[in-house]
Amino acid sequence: MDILGIETSCDETAAAVVRDGREVLSSVVYTQIPLHRPYGGVVPEIASRAHVEKITEVVGESLAQAAKVAGREIRPDAVAVTYGPGLSPALIVGLNFAKGLAAALGVPLMAINHLEAHLHTPFLRMAGEGDAPDPAAFTPALGLVVSGGHTNWVDIPEYGKYETIGQTLDDAAGEAFDKAAKLLGLGYPGGPVIDRIAKEYMSAHPSRRDLIPFPKGRPREGVSALAGLPADLCVSFSGLKTALLRHVQREGDGERERIAASYQEAIVQALAERTTTALRRHRYRALILGGGVSLNSRVREELGRVCAREGLPLLTASPKFCGDNGAMIAGLAFYRRNITGEDAMRIDVAPSLEVG
Ligand code: KG4
Ligand code: ZN
Repeated sequence: MDILGIETSCDETAAAVVRDGREVLSSVVYTQIPLHRPYGGVVPEIASRAHVEKITEVVGESLAQAAKVAGREIRPDAVAVTYGPGLSPALIVGLNFAKGLAAALGVPLMAINHLEAHLHTPFLRMAGEGDAPDPAAFTPALGLVVSGGHTNWVDIPEYGKYETIGQTLDDAAGEAFDKAAKLLGLGYPGGPVIDRIAKEYMSAHPSRRDLIPFPKGRPREGVSALAGLPADLCVSFSGLKTALLRHVQREGDGERERIAASYQEAIVQALAERTTTALRRHRYRALILGGGVSLNSRVREELGRVCAREGLPLLTASPKFCGDNGAMIAGLAFYRRNITGEDAMRIDVAPSLEVG
């Protein structure tokens, strides 16, 4: 079954064709990052208009590339699209385009949750690059989505069923990286730059004792009750952000590499600590990592260490599928058919959609 996936929740216009949920025939991503860079963050109106301009070309290109790989024209068996969470004016472009396309092709529409789709990325492979693992072999699994907008620990009892068991109470991990980079004058988006300069610093100063002891994302007492989730499975990065600001006000940003490495380490330790707690709470068969921050080299390394210690595999995506893309939407749609057909045709965008 060939599914065309469309993604426009934030600042990437993306489309892909995925066969049977895992074999990626094509994945086209047009990133708007340069358009938003001057503003230091994503501007919804600019995102929406850029999606409108690019979507026809991106979808056409994904079908053309898939046809080349398959050796014949691709007529998708279904169209899958992100309906949330994300920026409302951005989501509307993709959802409406997908509705029109599904109607014109006479194939079912499938509405997909962007966060759940990030957790499908370790199960995607480009056609010809070997078989992807079968998700059914790894449940019950713990999922961790770390992106620009979210940080969620997700219980996956069987494949396609999701429940958030922990999350951030304020900023997402990616947002924490982006805000720090802005403060340190490192540009947008912040994650990749901080990752790079932190690595340089750490290879010159391997001792962790040289790092600034920033707070490790523990929520203030009583606060996590608001989210109805246990405090030891929640993080809060607002204190970390304040600590960084105070540090820079007090001592200046002359040691940007050391500050970046210390700040990154605080985020990494916060993620590793909550993940360990979650893994010890239930018997899981794997940790599934997804989202843009999963590209971070220290995040991967440290979660790899946690998984080795707890005796289970860490499943990560190839870098191509870590950021937003259409393949994760098309891939998950094969497994999760909860909103399809007429229901999908009637659905509205859900900017604050949660997992599950
Ligand atoms: O998943 P994604 O592409 O979009 C959302 O759904 O939010 O994630 C984007 C986020 C940005 O905050 C970006 O700074 C972060 O992922 N990011 C990284 C790295 N690469 C991207 N964060 C840390 N280290 C990286 N190497
Ligand atoms: Zn995303």
